[in-house]
Amino acid sequence: MNIIIKTPEEIEKMRVACRLGAEVLDYIAPFVKVGVTTQEIDRLCLDYMVNVQGTKSACLNYAPPGYAPYPAATCTSINHQICHGIPNDRALKEGDIVNIDVTVITKDGFHGDTSRMFLLGTPSIQAKRLCDITFECLWLGISVVKPGGRLGDIGAVIQKHAEKAGFSVVREFCGHGVGRSFHEDPQVLHYGRAGTGAELKPGMIFTIEPMINAGKAAIRQMPDGWTVTTKDRSLSAQYEHTVLVTETGVEALTVSKDCPPAPVGMGV
Ligand code: MF3
Ligand code: CO
Ligand code: CO
Repeated sequence: MNIIIKTPEEIEKMRVACRLGAEVLDYIAPFVKVGVTTQEIDRLCLDYMVNVQGTKSACLNYAPPGYAPYPAATCTSINHQICHGIPNDRALKEGDIVNIDVTVITKDGFHGDTSRMFLLGTPSIQAKRLCDITFECLWLGISVVKPGGRLGDIGAVIQKHAEKAGFSVVREFCGHGVGRSFHEDPQVLHYGRAGTGAELKPGMIFTIEPMINAGKAAIRQMPDGWTVTTKDRSLSAQYEHTVLVTETGVEALTVSKDCPPAPVGMGV
């Protein structure tokens, strides 16, 4: 495992990349309404990245080993879709919950990776609770990040909170180091034991992006090669921030004017 410690210059460039990633989500929020298609959302996001920000989408044509190039600029994962939902021509409807996941690449070559849930109209009580618990899981994970801590501390608090609520943690996908590369070491599991795993050091930058299912944790890979859903078709939610380990604790980098604030008592 090779966890890159970012220099002060690289950290400054990551602050910019991450803020820009978050600002794409701020920009798209007013368009995420009943009747809009995820393709339209994707087109608007890409246009904003390229023509307003001067960034690129890290997702478009992304092709890790064993995968066909990803065909869109964003991931839009609706209801029982866990992650990597490919935008399409189906309109969002009342009560849907949709995760929009954006990763920009700046002109300097740095990646800012973040996602949020958007709730269409009035979702079910369970859907709302799943989104709330998942957001709390993200911030509980962030709140234990500090130099001298361990990666397992993050997974442990997330798993505990999700399972206490009667939900389950997806195992097959995890957070990841991020910087000049989209996906770097380490893998940031969203389950596990406190006090285990790599030691956290100032200058590390990684994502925390728990995927929490209302039902069982098992996943199903769709034939499109990308979209991942829950096997039991239960709802799934995800929130993602990119975070920096500082000398004294943690800084969430993918924050912006309109990003939902940390739950009361969980801010850092
Ligand atoms: N943004 C996702 C993550 O959080 C990765 C999406 S890869 C894509 O790691 F190719 F599906 F876009
Ligand atoms: Co990520
Ligand atoms: Co992401």
